[in-house]
Amino acid sequence: MASLLLTTVLASTTLGQATGKRGLAYNNDNPSKDAVYANLFKGNEKVSWAYDWGYPAWNLDPSFEFVPMLWGLPSGAAGEWTDAVQTPGVVNILGFNEPDLTYDASSNILPADAAAGYIEYIQPFAGTVRIGSPSVLWNNEGPSSGGPYNSTVWTEFFLGNCTGCQLDFLAIHWYQDCFAADGQKGADWFIGNVTNAHETLDLPIWVTEFECYGEEDEQIAFLEEVLPWMDGQEYVERYAYFGAFPKYLINEAGDGLSDLGRAYATI
Ligand SMILES: *[C@@H]1O[C@H](CO)[C@@H](O)[C@H](O)[C@H]1NC(C)=O
Ligand SMILES: *[C@@H]1O[C@H](CO)[C@@H](O)[C@H](O)[C@H]1NC(C)=O
Ligand SMILES: *[C@@H]1O[C@H](CO)[C@@H](O)[C@H](O)[C@H]1NC(C)=O
Repeated sequence: MASLLLTTVLASTTLGQATGKRGLAYNNDNPSKDAVYANLFKGNEKVSWAYDWGYPAWNLDPSFEFVPMLWGLPSGAAGEWTDAVQTPGVVNILGFNEPDLTYDASSNILPADAAAGYIEYIQPFAGTVRIGSPSVLWNNEGPSSGGPYNSTVWTEFFLGNCTGCQLDFLAIHWYQDCFAADGQKGADWFIGNVTNAHETLDLPIWVTEFECYGEEDEQIAFLEEVLPWMDGQEYVERYAYFGAFPKYLINEAGDGLSDLGRAYATI
């Protein structure tokens, strides 16, 4: 019996399911040029994975699962990306970041080009790691890269062009006011949009960036509603609130969690 149990545990680890849902989006834009802000969450067992919009992991504490991302289209061979995906412990990968959007810091890629990029750089790893769709701003009503359409349509064009692609989950972003102009609560808006994402494509969901705009106590109230809701939805596999930075989940001094960060770690 003991060996049977062990087999089961190993199998679920291999599939990347053993890790909890809650994670961190971080970068190395800090004095020590590493994962120092993400690492401040060490020891909070509800926070179990992290990504940094790229690779490498910049000394992320090994208690977190690192999820490498290919942020945009590489200009040629991507040997370091291959090495990152094949690093022991990597069981999930993320593709392009906001390719559907056209602002300066988005990756802004036409659906057909993004699909060609997936076929070249991401799909060769199918079956060895779990693969996320490009991270799109699901509640963007348009325009999107390539035309006046919304991000759902961008994603459908991407999928239509990604012949033979195997995607294991849909990665989405969500930003909106904590209290919308029409009086609607951000939490209700969020829950409706995440439900819509799952129902539209029938894939498990990773919310790789989300935030409600408002005062810190309004954001905490938002988290108190949406975190338990996501934890209760089987199809929501992972999420990462924006982000592991001072004045967000980290305090202004950069040496501890903010009230918002403590709420994120413990709700
Ligand atoms: C996105 O655009 C499509 C095509 O116009 C439309 O059917 C769909 O309702 C739109 N989605 C949202 C959330 O507005
Ligand atoms: C492929 O993407 C282009 C936009 O880049 C779109 O016009 C076309 O309809 C897509 N093809 C499919 C089969 O979805
Ligand atoms: C997101 O929710 C808002 C508010 O309920 C709604 O107007 C919008 O169409 C939704 N978008 C998607 C993509 O579900």
